[in-house]
Amino acid sequence: MVHSILMSNIAPVPSSDAAAELLDGLRALRRGTGPLPGLAPDSYARGHAAFERLSDQRSLIAEHFAGRLAKMGDGPISVLSVGCGDGSLDVRIASGLVQRLSGRPVRYVGIDPWPGSVELFTAKMAALMADELSVEAHVASFDDAPVNETFDVVLFVHSMYYVADVGATLRSALDLLRPGGELWVAIAPSAALNALVEVLAPPLEGHRQWFSADVEKAFVDTGITLGDEATLDALVDLASASDEVLDFAVQARLTPELYGPVRAYLDAVSVPGTDGRLRVPHPVDVFAATRRRPVERRAGPTTVV
Ligand SMILES: C[S@@+](CC[C@H](N)C(=O)[O-])C[C@H]1O[C@@H](n2cnc3c(N)ncnc32)[C@H](O)[C@@H]1O
Repeated sequence: MVHSILMSNIAPVPSSDAAAELLDGLRALRRGTGPLPGLAPDSYARGHAAFERLSDQRSLIAEHFAGRLAKMGDGPISVLSVGCGDGSLDVRIASGLVQRLSGRPVRYVGIDPWPGSVELFTAKMAALMADELSVEAHVASFDDAPVNETFDVVLFVHSMYYVADVGATLRSALDLLRPGGELWVAIAPSAALNALVEVLAPPLEGHRQWFSADVEKAFVDTGITLGDEATLDALVDLASASDEVLDFAVQARLTPELYGPVRAYLDAVSVPGTDGRLRVPHPVDVFAATRRRPVERRAGPTTVV
């Protein structure tokens, strides 16, 4: 189900008194202690892959972007995926493009700082065995990526949490677009699930994790006009999740005494899915902006604004 971002952001966080009490309990357990350790890249990647197996978000995101890509016509297309991870989502998007564009060139570039993920991204894309698909991948964070070309689409799926400066990142991403190209940012709001991140995750290098509201504010502050926005109502089944999945969900290596209270909190914020089984809502907000086309002047050079 898709609805506007404002609707998802007015949901009470957390969603019940019991959940609020459990969250307070977790705060109390952490009071006066130092930050928990963060996740090493390999356990982050493993926890993430296992989390995705319990969530329906990949299908919702892939379907959403397929709809947006379909509106961009059926000519050649180039996509830059920032924070591509192991490529599980990108390979679905690329495969959809290859099938739909039947023979037209598709260029797909992935960036991720973790070499293990970039290797998997490259292998998954190679397995598509499509001659019209040209793939490149860089082991780099967005700020350092050696990208010297422009794209029709620049995509951040769940990677904007980690950048040092959201506004500067949005501007740089816009610079990597061809005129008329589109920047898409998929990121979670600070809702029930991410309330745990706010309580338990250690700070990143000099900043907390960013959420949807930070991205929306950065769009406004940088003067980049936001296009249509959407929220995808994803659900994740964390009832029987492993400790590694819970570590990924809270973005920290939990200590043994924290797993019980974290599981109790997740139960308290769960809602029944269509099959009646309890699941944790984890909405995904999607922001979009278009790089404007050049403005024709009567005399003098053409400028892009
Ligand atoms: C939650 S994963 C998302 C992966 C993929 N986009 C997906 O949806 O499956 C976030 C990814 O962002 C990457 N990442 C973290 N900081 C980054 C940065 N500064 N620049 C680019 N990628 C980054 C991480 O290594 C990780 O693979």
